[in-house]
Amino acid sequence: MDQYVTGTTIKALREKAGMTQLQLADRLGVTDKTISKWETGKGYPDITLLEPIAEIFRVSVTELISGNTVQNANVSSNMLRSGLYVCPICGNVIHSMGDAVIQCHGITLTALEAEPADDLHPISVEKVEDEYYVTVSHQMTKDHYISFMAAVSPDSIRITKLYPEWNAETRFKISGVKKIYFYCNRDGLFYVNCTGRSGKDQ
Ligand SMILES: [Fe+2]
Repeated sequence: MDQYVTGTTIKALREKAGMTQLQLADRLGVTDKTISKWETGKGYPDITLLEPIAEIFRVSVTELISGNTVQNANVSSNMLRSGLYVCPICGNVIHSMGDAVIQCHGITLTALEAEPADDLHPISVEKVEDEYYVTVSHQMTKDHYISFMAAVSPDSIRITKLYPEWNAETRFKISGVKKIYFYCNRDGLFYVNCTGRSGKDQ
């Protein structure tokens, strides 16, 4: 084990849980002075206390040790609030329904924040029968291209992977789609809202 739980993590979790040092101390059968010692880096909790501490804060022992804690109240709530992650090294695309600690190539990824499609990344969404025909006017060279598109409804996500030299276009079944995302390897994640009305969505 090259890492151990830090005082910063314990303090952050305790405060998040709205507990005093004394309350935590009582639950663990130690004194509040001991908790204070841990939190100020003057001592460490005994290894036998890691599981009880993790249980009190409703995290895993791994999260406690790494300091990367995730608390999802209801992961199944809504796909529209889910996260997209892209590894800057290999371009791996990962979708998560709730908060998560996601690593690829040793990098901890953060959920991408999408911006509305801009002048340099204009998107056209056209209805063709029961599908959206989606086109992004953007170069598709090896260095700079649209690497995927995603259609999100409250209960589903569909991702289309795109590659250099392809056309930046795809089709998605319209049913329930509220948002279409696309990702430029240089400029990041963009979105457009879909109205579901007939004609052209923009
Ligand atoms: Fe771009």
